[in-house]
Formats: sequence, structure tokens, C-alpha cells
Amino acid sequence: MKRVVILGSTGSIGTQALEVCRWRGYRVVGLAAGRNLDRLAAQIQEFNPQIVSAHPELLPELRARFPRVTFTDQAEEVAAHPADVVVSAIPGLAGLAPTRAAARQGVRLALANKESMVAAGPLLWAEVEAAGGEILPVDSEHSALFQSLVGERLEDVHELILTASGGPFREGPEDLSRVTPEMALAHPRWNMGPKVTIDSATLMNKGLEVLEAVQLFRVPLERVRVLIHPQAYVHSLVRFVDGQLKAQLGPTDMRLPIQYALTYPERAPNPLAALPLEARLEFYPPDTTRFPALELAYAAGRMGGLAPTVLNAADEVAVEAFLAGRIPFTRIPEIISRVLEDTPREPVTWESVYRADRWARERAKECI
Ligand SMILES: NC(=O)c1ccc[n+]([C@@H]2O[C@H](COP(=O)([O-])OP(=O)(O)OC[C@H]3O[C@@H](n4cnc5c(N)ncnc54)[C@H](OP(=O)(O)O)[C@@H]3O)[C@@H](O)[C@H]2O)c1
Repeated sequence: MKRVVILGSTGSIGTQALEVCRWRGYRVVGLAAGRNLDRLAAQIQEFNPQIVSAHPELLPELRARFPRVTFTDQAEEVAAHPADVVVSAIPGLAGLAPTRAAARQGVRLALANKESMVAAGPLLWAEVEAAGGEILPVDSEHSALFQSLVGERLEDVHELILTASGGPFREGPEDLSRVTPEMALAHPRWNMGPKVTIDSATLMNKGLEVLEAVQLFRVPLERVRVLIHPQAYVHSLVRFVDGQLKAQLGPTDMRLPIQYALTYPERAPNPLAALPLEARLEFYPPDTTRFPALELAYAAGRMGGLAPTVLNAADEVAVEAFLAGRIPFTRIPEIISRVLEDTPREPVTWESVYRADRWARERAKECI
């Protein structure tokens, strides 16, 4: 029976990963969460893990209620617990250290935390390869690309195309400066955590996914493209050098790519409804005038070095400020752009990634 650790277990990806573990009857040996006491306690009750991390404020009550479980406030300790698969779904750079700890165990890393790949892709790959592990993407577009690439040679790939539903403002309003957090949080297709939902509305999520694809599949930036596809049936396309295209279609449900990352190379049945095939499918280029965040991600990719880390950190601060009602929606890309201009020029190391992250957060706060 597969032993699974879930980092970010109380979040959107974490709870869906646990659902997949229920379907498959996998043994959940470790959980890492933040502050959601009720949900975490229910998960411990149901899955009986060996080790659990949570915010220090939660620990006294958890220890009293579950005396047989080992508790810690360090997600890295949970990530390093013996397991077959670690689902990495703590968002932002907070997810990087636990992801690295899992990579060092030589396990299968089911990676949802795209920010780790964006900021520290080559460093993570070095850890994974040194320890003999593997990375399976959880993001639906990257899972779809991975599936299209099974049995193919990377040198035969002409381009990778990520599709985007276009978010809640695809068709309007034309003037995005009056968009409220409530409007931006109401994503038409996916039910996700707040940061990734706002990123979907600005298209920064797609920009981060482009940078993630570059690192994950080790292809040049100019070979990764985005197309808006409102129906969200096709999660990605791969065009090969001979002109043939492979598309991956599937239901709009994250449990599917999560399950694939856990069961690969096997496929497993599940209770999800099949995709209805009678549909009109549209594909068209994104409007980067209304959604400049996507262009900023390409700019960061071209700058290389620490620029993707800076992009991500500035975005996190700007999104938080928007959600708190402190800046309008349209200032999110403006702030990121200003911070990106001053990106420190240093080689990418674990230390410089954290330093650049801290610097970019401070700089973004100044810009706000
Ligand atoms: N949601 C999706 O459909 C989706 C799709 C593709 C990729 N992703 C990526 O997957 C990751 C997770 O996204 P999500 O939507 O699941 O986020 P989410 O719903 O906000 O959940 C975040 C989880 O991480 C925990 N957490 C947050 N900060 C933490 C910290 N400092 N230390 C320990 N635990 C912490 C939270 O704990 P508490 O809630 O207990 O505080 C929660 O369990 C992100 O990187 C996102 O970009 C998400």
C-alpha cells in the first residue's frame, strides 16, 4: 500500500489529495497544515497519520486530543518522514523548504507548489536527481503536458501550449480598475485557494505556469505558449517537430491530475463523471493589454536568474494588498513590474532565492 504525505492538507489541493487517498485506500502517514484546527483534527481522526505539523498555536490542543501522533511546527519534518509519495501543496515560497526536504528523500514528489519550481527549478532538480527521486506535476496543465510527453523525446517537441480558461474577467469589464476582491475570487471554473484564484484573474497564474513548464520540462521559454480556451476541456497541447499535435482533454477536476501523480504509470478508475464530448471548443491568444501580468512573467523568464523569484514574491505581496482592499486590481501588475526592474543580479542558490524573496517583498511593500 502506498504511503503518502500531504503538505498543505487543509487546503484546496490537500483536501482533494486526501479524497484520492480515500478512493485508492492509500496509507496517509503525514500531514502538514497551518491554522485550520477543525479541518486538521478531522483529518487526523480519519487518517490516523504518524506525524503532523501545524502552526505552534494549535499544537497544545492537538497533542491533548491525539496523544499517539507526533506533532511538530516544522513542515520539513513531515516532508522528510518515510513515504512513497509527498504531495507538495503549501503555497508560495513557504512551500519551498518542505519541498526540498521531500526531494532529498528520493521520493516521488507530486508537485502542486508551482512557486518552488519557478523560483528554484534547477536547485530542486539537482536534489531530486541526487536522491534518485522523481517529480510528477499536479497542476492540471503540467500533468496534461507530462501525459502527452510519455514515450516521446523532448528534442522532438516544437512547442508546449498551456491553455487558460481566461478567468472571471475574460469578457469584461473592459476597465479592470473597479474590480473588487469578491468579483476576482469568484472563478467560473475552479475552486482554489485565494492567492491562486486572484492569480487566475490577472493571468499571473498562467505566467507562473509558463515558468514552471520551462523548469519542469527543461525547454526554452520561447517554446512555451499560452492560448485562451474558455471551455477548459483541453488542458494543454504539445506540437512536435513533424507538425503533429497531442492534446490532453479531461474533466475540470483537480482530483484527476492529483490521482495521476499518485498512481503513475498506472491509471485508476474513479467516481468522476466522464467528459461530455459534444462541445464547441475555442482557442485564441490572450489579451496582454488587459492582462499585462502574463507578459511580466515572460519578461522575468527572459531575465532569468532571480527574476522569477522576485516576480512571485512581488505578486504575493500585491495580491495580499488587493485582497485587503489596499490597492486596485490594476495595480497588481504595476507593482510587480516596478519590483522586477530592480531585480538583484546574483547566481541562483538556496540562500540567494530566500534573500531575493525577502528583498522583493520589502520592495513591493514600499511600492504599495
Ligand atoms: N487549488 C488548485 O486548484 C491549484 C491548482 C494548481 C496548483 N495549485 C498550487 O497548489 C498550491 C496550494 O494551493 P491551494 O489552492 O491548495 O492553497 P490553499 O487552499 O490556500 O491551501 C494552502 C494549504 O497550505 C497550508 N499552509 C499555508 N501556509 C502555510 C505555512 N506557512 N506552513 C504550513 N502550511 C501552510 C494551509 O494551511 P491552513 O489552511 O490550515 O492554514 C493549507 O493547508 C499552490 O502553490 C497553488 O499555486 C493549486
